[in-house]
Amino acid sequence: MRTQTRSLLDQCSPERRAEIERRVETLLSELTLEQKVGQLNQLNADFATGTAVGDMDVERGVFDGDIGSVLNFGDLDEARRLQELAVEESDHGVPLLLAFDVIHGHRTIFPVPLGEAASWNPEMAELSARVAATEAAASGIHWTFAPSVDVGRDPRWGRVMEAAGEDPYLSSEISKARVRGFQGDDLSADDTVLACAKHYVGYGASEAGREYNTVDISETNLREVHLPPFEASLEAGVGSVMNAFNLYERIPASGNEKLVNDLLRDELGFENLVVSDWNSFGELRNHGVASDLREVARACIEAGSDVDMVSGAYATELVGLVEDDVVDESLVDSAVRRLLTVKGVLGLFDDPYRYFDADRQSRRTLTDDHREAARAVARESQVLLKNEDDLLPLDGDENVALVGGLADSDTDMLGAWRAEGDPDDVTTLRTTLADRVENVTYAAGCDRDGTVSDTQLADAVDTVADADVAVVAVGERYSQSGEAASRAHLDLPGDQRALLEALVETGTPVAAVLFSGRPLTIDWEAEHVPAILEAWFPGVEAGPAIADVLLGEHNPSGRLPMTFPLTEGQIPVYYNRLKTGRPAEDADVDLTEPPSDHGEKYLSRYLDIPNDPLYAFGHGESYTDFAYTDLSLDASTITTDETLSVEVTVENTGDRAGTEVVQLYLRDAVGSRSRPVRELARFENVDLDAGESATVTFELAAADFEFWTADEAYAAEPGAFEVQVGHASDDIRAVERFELVE
Ligand code: GLC
Repeated sequence: MRTQTRSLLDQCSPERRAEIERRVETLLSELTLEQKVGQLNQLNADFATGTAVGDMDVERGVFDGDIGSVLNFGDLDEARRLQELAVEESDHGVPLLLAFDVIHGHRTIFPVPLGEAASWNPEMAELSARVAATEAAASGIHWTFAPSVDVGRDPRWGRVMEAAGEDPYLSSEISKARVRGFQGDDLSADDTVLACAKHYVGYGASEAGREYNTVDISETNLREVHLPPFEASLEAGVGSVMNAFNLYERIPASGNEKLVNDLLRDELGFENLVVSDWNSFGELRNHGVASDLREVARACIEAGSDVDMVSGAYATELVGLVEDDVVDESLVDSAVRRLLTVKGVLGLFDDPYRYFDADRQSRRTLTDDHREAARAVARESQVLLKNEDDLLPLDGDENVALVGGLADSDTDMLGAWRAEGDPDDVTTLRTTLADRVENVTYAAGCDRDGTVSDTQLADAVDTVADADVAVVAVGERYSQSGEAASRAHLDLPGDQRALLEALVETGTPVAAVLFSGRPLTIDWEAEHVPAILEAWFPGVEAGPAIADVLLGEHNPSGRLPMTFPLTEGQIPVYYNRLKTGRPAEDADVDLTEPPSDHGEKYLSRYLDIPNDPLYAFGHGESYTDFAYTDLSLDASTITTDETLSVEVTVENTGDRAGTEVVQLYLRDAVGSRSRPVRELARFENVDLDAGESATVTFELAAADFEFWTADEAYAAEPGAFEVQVGHASDDIRAVERFELVE
């Protein structure tokens, strides 16, 4: 088995495991069929995070013993009341599982996940999830529906904001870290929560980047691109997986036995809980693969999907299906056993009220340590896209013009999945610069949605014209990314480009701070604005973290987790592309010019744009420079059961300390299937003082060379490989070759 999956019980001591198993089997034997089915029913307590699904009397359902878990409840008082109904009022007394979307912070909001991934630092992702779990568990939450591990190659899709970008390896490393952060070492502890790897699987491949659209991908693409972060999450011991809304091979994921039982459970060994997405069971009817809820319930329970989020299919149909001998009761028992095991591992059988302590909640929420953690993660998430003539960092004694509604917006800094985040907790860029720079003049320039009035424009131009330097905050509003937020045009919303044109025209140097939940098409800005800093949506410490970078207290080390396309017409554009039969990059052709003859025409290219994106995966500048030397391999030939040691020396050749994200890519020259031009296989953050050098060592083994071969099996095939080491996927500094032999 490729994936060393860890069940929740594997993560308990033998004694605790035996105790939980005993409790679960006893309960299972005592519950009626109706009560067992009720355990698989999840209802929504307060605000909906999906389509309308009819009224739900949650308190009544809990009292009647017809609900096993609840999502989106309000506060500790509501949580306690619901738990008391379940434990003390219902016939069976089984505690409830309480769930919430704690995606990048609960009350202390961290950068959106795509921003965290831009740190290329799993420690930052783990820290963020650790703080989120501490605050969530102190607020009565047992189960977070995070991390999203969807690999996204299409920035039109708004949910690229919620995961870790386009690369399977970076997504895997970040996802593992997030699972570790949320679940810790002991799920019965009062500062850990059950994590949920979502959305299983392939949701990021929604056609045209349109939300909830058709997904139609090959098994090879599924296994090579979308599955690895789920495998990594399973290795980290994730306690649950969420069905995706989408199809796989034209069968909805929730009712897709090949995906759930065959691949996730049998092949990958996942023994823990599978929960549907919001009404994803019920949507089998919309997909046209079930005509009623009875067919829905049968398809989903037979596929191996355990918990029904708000569709009501299991609650209304499962008992009848079992009584009619259409569904074997053992399928219900297996699902209920997995759910009860979660409740046991969380300690809910020992103390159903363990997570409801108001004093603990106030002690552990929005602490100074948590804010400092949020600032640290936000600092490392920022990506310096360009910095002409070293405009940044600022000295701090310049006469600074600060422009842009987003610089003064607290709510936008929290992103779209903000849990209990409160805009009042946010320190904005405007607030911070006013504190830390002596001469700052603010002009709105535009509203937070990018609209520019004549007055705003004139005021901004005057303010910038009088300044030594302008810091201009541009980008999206928080609601323009995340779920149900696909965009067909990815330029700066509203009139922000016109605003920038006018401000650049003043001759005052402009540094743009970009707020977004996705890559944007900023080709004009990239050509005309001297400095651009991508800040994503940085969370409660937005102002201090951005000012730390603008003022040089933190040398930016973020790298793009996702390609920035030159224009929407290039999408999907990603670094680990296949070579094609007529690779333009091999031909000595200037792709910025139209083809002049056959030699330039019959290539994989466009007539009207180049192939290269605006900014490549792994791109990110620094206030210093780094040189790579002495790349060496400890062997030029290895067998599939040997390891290969790679060494490279990195030097900080600039005049200020900085962090280089050393990236190692592999190129498999020939395979039984066409192989990507390069694939990220390792990376490491290296902190170097000015003039300092360090030698970085990477160990590679056969598992790194494996892929889904034409034999429909994972294998490392003998042949020639390249090790490519560099600063970015389009900035390879050194290459060495080796041969893999049987
Ligand atoms: C939403 C999202 C999912 C979330 C769930 C519960 O529709 O797709 O990511 O966890 O419903 O809020």
